[in-house]
Amino acid sequence: MLRTAVLVSGGGTNLQAILDAKAAGKIPHAGISLVIASNPAAYALERAKAAGVPGCVVQKGKGEPIEAYGERLLAVLRENRIDLCVLAGFLTILPENVIRAYDHRILNIHPSLIPSFCGKGFYGLKVHEAALNYGVKVTGATVHFVNEIPDGGEIIAQRAVTIQEGDTPEILQRRVMEEAEWILLPQALEDVARKLSEEETA
Ligand code: GRF
Repeated sequence: MLRTAVLVSGGGTNLQAILDAKAAGKIPHAGISLVIASNPAAYALERAKAAGVPGCVVQKGKGEPIEAYGERLLAVLRENRIDLCVLAGFLTILPENVIRAYDHRILNIHPSLIPSFCGKGFYGLKVHEAALNYGVKVTGATVHFVNEIPDGGEIIAQRAVTIQEGDTPEILQRRVMEEAEWILLPQALEDVARKLSEEETA
């Protein structure tokens, strides 16, 4: 079973979806071994605790060079023998040393159908505001591998969500989570973990 770390910054509903899917036996190829928060106030740490998963905080220091922060993060990942990382609402941009060390082993969830409404500056409600302002009729969520381009790595899975009359960014954000993100991320994690396990035993 692959040892997986989930990296979080906020509420952690996507982490919860992973923990619930794991408890329901839907992620047989990955163990949720560690939750890493980018700040001590992240409610996701409480969710980890409640599920009996170890949690820790690795926060980028003010003025700390990004590569030095990456080294600290890598040390934690190595100490915990982590094979695979999932960014579930993780707001700190990962440095290149981490991306290189975990090439095709870091998944991210983005709340739009990439390549729409993604990249620098598109996070949180801004993504849904942009979709509504543009007037698209369908949006959704994307799980992709992380590379050096923000939201630019290889796409793993996507799920569409229909925009409805009267949607606000908040309503749409919630529907994208319920109808897409919370289903897509645990499934994508299992798919990637299964493929990596098969490659390792081949
Ligand atoms: C989600 O919308 C996710 O797509 C984005 O950040 C949000 C995190 O929410 N990357 P949560 O912390 O999982 O509740």
